[in-house]
Amino acid sequence: MNAIQIYGGNCLEGQIKIQGSKNAALPILAAALLINGICEIENCPDISDVYHMIRLMESLCCTIDRNGHTLKINARQLASHIMPSDSVGVMRSSITLLGALLARTGNVSMQYPGGCVIGQRPIDLHLQGLRRMGVVIEEREDGFGAYAEKLVGTVHKLPFVSVGATENLILAAVLAQGETVIENAAREPEIYVLCDFLNQAGARIKGAGTSRLVIEGVKALHEVSYRIPADRIVAGTYLSACLCSGGEVFLQEAPCTQMGAVIMAASAMGAEAYESREGLHVICRKRRKMPPKLWTDSYPGFPTDLQSAFLTAMTLAEGTGMLEETIFENRFRIVPELQKMGAKITYRKNMVMVEGVTCLHGSLLKAEELRGGAALVLAGAAAEGATTVLNRHFIERGYEDICKDLRMLGIKCEKTNWEERND
Ligand code: EPZ
Repeated sequence: MNAIQIYGGNCLEGQIKIQGSKNAALPILAAALLINGICEIENCPDISDVYHMIRLMESLCCTIDRNGHTLKINARQLASHIMPSDSVGVMRSSITLLGALLARTGNVSMQYPGGCVIGQRPIDLHLQGLRRMGVVIEEREDGFGAYAEKLVGTVHKLPFVSVGATENLILAAVLAQGETVIENAAREPEIYVLCDFLNQAGARIKGAGTSRLVIEGVKALHEVSYRIPADRIVAGTYLSACLCSGGEVFLQEAPCTQMGAVIMAASAMGAEAYESREGLHVICRKRRKMPPKLWTDSYPGFPTDLQSAFLTAMTLAEGTGMLEETIFENRFRIVPELQKMGAKITYRKNMVMVEGVTCLHGSLLKAEELRGGAALVLAGAAAEGATTVLNRHFIERGYEDICKDLRMLGIKCEKTNWEERND
């Protein structure tokens, strides 16, 4: 079974460069389908979610040339409208292709993207919004067909913030007839970046980064080159690693302006954080303190994707603390794994109470999803002794090479294969 072996107990020392943003890259790859020509995407992270998105797009007759972190995408020959179920099943973000494909072909057939262990991950807001733009959706046993003679602009009032639904409706609106308004739109930096990419390709989107987007449909988009910004969640993961293990790190290219809530929470735990255009300098010399009550929220609140990493840091902090998850219904899956290491956590529904301990013990742990898996690696780095985290493939969905990054910061950490011994 693929795994990661970590030998804990060292402080972090050193610097690393933060990779391009997974959650900015995926919708921008989908947006490339709207361009009847070639677009060049730089600083695209080399992770399995991007690999699956590329395969999915190639199955739709896109040609994609990859040279390191740069992708050259040619969507001129966009033909097939049937998304292969193996890729859709593997990668939830395939749903973001729906709006773009409808805008280009008017006809999409796909299976429902799976939920995952953190939650059901429904797509009702996506489908309701598209229906309001003239899309006919025929639901079937395992999926659905979506058809639209033409997409017509309208006013969407989203009942709650959804990053994916906002992205899908933007992609359906840029070539639609007339004006589309999205109220209660997500304000995540990834939405701002998607709108910036589209505007550079000739779209007419106003209000990027605010909760009200106004999109005037245009006839066509033109070719464009774009650089994906650094990943705020990956940067926050290594900031959390410093909170867990202590030490001093420089996170080159960390997008500090997008990390306000995270940096504030780290400072409340006693970290010294120095922001600059070049990146984020973090120093943790004393034992961390428990933060005041922490809860996840849509941007600019504390990101749900760093909840597991901060929970791990809290298990080693002084005092007792509370952490509430308000976005996903099942995102405390790592609690039993941390308890195996000696963490003192009690939880009910979407709230955990943590009583800090002075050390965690290395253990055999099992990752069940991307961000929780990364948090277990941080726990291993901070623990005494050796830790094995199984199911490395979950972590490789979003981190180019977490072992290499942690080794560059002084942690002994390597990919391995783990065989269950029956002795
Ligand atoms: C995006 O997922 C991110 N993924 C997630 O990151 C992130 O955790 C999430 O936004 C919240 O910030 C990508 O960008 C690829 P939502 P998304 O729609 O779009 C419910 C990671 O680790 N909902 O904002 O799927 C939903 O169940 C991943 O990188 C509906 O009920 O999230 C959730 O409870 C994990 N109906 C809440 O809304 C819908 O139609 C927010 O989901 C859509 C969503």
